[in-house]
Amino acid sequence: MFTQKQLNTFKATETPFYFYDIDVLNKTLEAIKKAAPKEYHIHYALKANPHPTLLQLIKQAGLGADCVSGNEVKRAVESAFASDKIVFAGVGKSDKEINYALNHSIFCFNVESIQELQIINQLASNKNTKARIALRINPNVDAYTHKYITTGLEENKFGINPYEFDAVLDELKKLNNLEFIGLHFHIGSQINDLTPFKNLCTRVNEINKWFINKGFLLQHINVGGGLGINYKEPDTQSVVDFENYFNVFKQFLALKPQQQVHFELGRAITGQCGSLISRVLYIKHGITTNFAILDAGMTELIRPALYQAYHKIENISASEVKSLVKYDVVGPICESSDCFGKAVELPETNRGDLIAIRSAGAYGEVMSSLYNLRDKLNSVFI
Ligand code: LLP
Repeated sequence: MFTQKQLNTFKATETPFYFYDIDVLNKTLEAIKKAAPKEYHIHYALKANPHPTLLQLIKQAGLGADCVSGNEVKRAVESAFASDKIVFAGVGKSDKEINYALNHSIFCFNVESIQELQIINQLASNKNTKARIALRINPNVDAYTHKYITTGLEENKFGINPYEFDAVLDELKKLNNLEFIGLHFHIGSQINDLTPFKNLCTRVNEINKWFINKGFLLQHINVGGGLGINYKEPDTQSVVDFENYFNVFKQFLALKPQQQVHFELGRAITGQCGSLISRVLYIKHGITTNFAILDAGMTELIRPALYQAYHKIENISASEVKSLVKYDVVGPICESSDCFGKAVELPETNRGDLIAIRSAGAYGEVMSSLYNLRDKLNSVFI
């Protein structure tokens, strides 16, 4: 639901563009602060949306930064996140990226393979410094989400598998420029049923116990992100139920008192504050369906094409609903996958109407591309 002021701005702005509702973001940040126990460290996953304006608010709320590339680390540093609140994960960190992060003494590298341990050690040694590292573990816990955003199964490329643990500990003994401070897990994204998080806690407890028995009581346990949002109800469910989410960890994680818990949430923080605003270019009556052809396409929001993701689509120009008509809402890109929704019921829609594609604040603008030599996107913040 948009305010009259927002609608007036939309009418006066060239489409397509991303609109960010700062009020929704602030409410979300307040809700996290209220729900998270003081001893929990929350990092925002920049990959969801690294817009400097949003990052300022997120940083001011006291969150840290979770990065998956050197440029994300750079964005976090430039946005003045404290270096002891920056973590760096990713299965393929380049030497250049590792060196950049070492130069800025980030809090921790989440390391995904034995070879990566050796390389970080070498690069830290070249700089005569020590790198703090956590092992990213593949816990083999199913997130029951889309297979492209499932990360914690044995078949996935992420993390170190338990059969490698002994070899990792042997290797670590030789690597003097690493300080082993934690364990890291991330099972996937857009997880709405909390059961996978409960299953993750059970696995974390087992693995943590294994390391303690080997003499490693690690101070930092990072359980990743993945909490989903309600794409069907962006207005009534604009803020995620963080309390229920944190309760799972309070109840099921069995850590030692000196161990601290870290989270890396992306979508749950910025997902609901953003919408893609577009105009209808043409209405076309096909043989079996009507098409509403927008001036935004998969180049602006790829989630429906890539993950068959649902986003609520609204005609925000229609002042009164006389009758509902079904449209395939599509973009201008030369691919049939360029479709935001099939048989979407909208009020009778005309050329020039404004269309909002909701819940697009996370993995929207940041995944846009210039394919078909599209114009660069604008963003509007209110
Ligand atoms: N930590 C790690 C190591 C991750 O790989 C991710 C997301 C997160 C944290 C944050 O996950 P979140 O809380 O946002 O679910 N483009 C896809 C989502 C890809 C998620 C990648 N990793 C989409 O549009 O659904």
